[in-house]
Amino acid sequence: MATNRTFTMVKPDAFGAGNSGAILSMIEKAGFKLIAMKITRLTSETAGKFYEVHKERGFYGELVEFMSSGPIIAAILEKDNAVADFRKLIGATDPAKADEGTIRKLYAKSMGANAVHGSDSDENAAIEGNFFFSHLERI
Ligand code: RTP
Ligand code: MG
Repeated sequence: MATNRTFTMVKPDAFGAGNSGAILSMIEKAGFKLIAMKITRLTSETAGKFYEVHKERGFYGELVEFMSSGPIIAAILEKDNAVADFRKLIGATDPAKADEGTIRKLYAKSMGANAVHGSDSDENAAIEGNFFFSHLERI
């Protein structure tokens, strides 16, 4: 499997609860290398743009409001099979359905406040990484 990259965010619920360090530790222990990372805060405009694919969904307004409700950590990660392996590490969108030992099982509170984001394809990983980071901000 070729080495590739994915993009993640520690969402406002996990950041606010002080779980960022524990989550980043799980990510590194699972073999992901940090390529770029920053603490930032989305506005309703930037959160709306980031999740634009979900614009027509009923939960879009709530999602945008939640994602702009507090600081987040944005990061680009590298590993063999990064996108699929990271989705496995974070677990199902709904923490009630997430496997034992996954980040969402441990730290997510609900479908909305679900601790972390993970890209769903190589193409979206590149788009999302570019949304937050310039060329100079990556190693
Ligand atoms: P993410 O993009 O944040 O990693 O989450 P995901 O792929 O597991 O889920 P996705 O379908 O992309 O949805 C993005 C976020 O929207 C919220 N959501 N709420 N109430 C609902 O039915 C619903 N469905 C999705 C979740 O917070 C999800 O992470
Ligand atoms: Mg998604």
